[in-house]
Amino acid sequence: MNNITVSEGIYYVGVNDRRKNLFENNWPLPKGVSYNSYLIRDRKNLLIDTIETGSNDNYLNNIERLLEGGKLDYLVVNHMEPDHSGLIGQVLAKYPDAKVVGNAQTGKILSHYFNIPEESFHLVKDGDTLELGEHVLSFHLVPWVHWPETMVTYDQKSATLFSCDAFGGFGTLDGGIFDDQNDFEADYKGEMLRYYSNIVGKYSNMVQKALEKLKGIRINMIAPSHGLVWRKDPAKVVGLYDQWSRSIPEEGVVIAFASMYGNTEQMADFIGKELGAKGIPVRIHDVSKTHVSYILQDIWKYKGLILGTCAYNTKMHPMMEHLCNEISLVSPRNKVLSVFGSSTWNGAGVKSLAKYAPEMGMEIKGAPLEIMGGASYEKLCGAASVFIENFMKEYNG
Ligand code: FEO
Repeated sequence: MNNITVSEGIYYVGVNDRRKNLFENNWPLPKGVSYNSYLIRDRKNLLIDTIETGSNDNYLNNIERLLEGGKLDYLVVNHMEPDHSGLIGQVLAKYPDAKVVGNAQTGKILSHYFNIPEESFHLVKDGDTLELGEHVLSFHLVPWVHWPETMVTYDQKSATLFSCDAFGGFGTLDGGIFDDQNDFEADYKGEMLRYYSNIVGKYSNMVQKALEKLKGIRINMIAPSHGLVWRKDPAKVVGLYDQWSRSIPEEGVVIAFASMYGNTEQMADFIGKELGAKGIPVRIHDVSKTHVSYILQDIWKYKGLILGTCAYNTKMHPMMEHLCNEISLVSPRNKVLSVFGSSTWNGAGVKSLAKYAPEMGMEIKGAPLEIMGGASYEKLCGAASVFIENFMKEYNG
């Protein structure tokens, strides 16, 4: 097997996972995911992060082969979530003399998962360095990106930032692992934003703090623990993270609806066509058909959000409630929100959306659009045009 060299003395030993259907048992993986791990060979040998248990039986063999009979001296744990820490126990069983490198928070969480003797833990503080020979590593704490213990590791020799989840994305690495070997716009950008909006976005304030902290470091390469390794254009992914974590939206409106018998769907279509006629990009999602993961991705991306639901057991439709709950968990910001819905004897759906808005950290702009019974063309022309006019005032405001 060919070695995958990231830089002189640094090897990629990560794996692709195409078998898992749902990341965190929640987020679909139609294009799989990679768990990136890196081995630095020097006078002292060091491994950066591991992989998820069961994702690849060859992982330990590859490390052994690359070490060519040498021992592993250190295992850096940038992040304790089990997709990266899963094989810590197996690595240490094979290399019992290796020291686990982590910060104080890492140590606490590590003890909940593995029984590691105190003398095997190499505690680092923010900015500490570790000399391996030619490679000197420094460790930088970036708490809550996206767990309390998260840190990044920087190799001074190659100016590589091992950033763990930060700058990562869904999607396997098919062939080349580098940004210049792949079509980022076509194959990875959407999956990176989906990963950001689903996993990291809630902690955008902390991402901003991390970006500020890392500003002073010269970075030639970014090597995250999921997705592409950025050697040609690391500034590009830093720019995207800055945009996404500042919640700077693109022009466009997401219309997400829940409909039992098609009336709310007709309202969604009518609103979408009217907005489209004004030149606004529109994405319409049926919450009963499209996984919430993709709807969140679009919500994060676009400026406008219009939610519609039929009434259901005196509340909103349960699939719309699921979307609202997920929105409240990831906290997208800077959205212009309006709501609409249909009902037969009262406006329970729209009222529920109005009640839920503060939990999503949003405020509904303009009066909701409500239609009783069938969404006839005449009714839509009358009520929806006022709704759209009001929405556009807020959207352009
Ligand atoms: Fe990829 Fe937060 O683990």
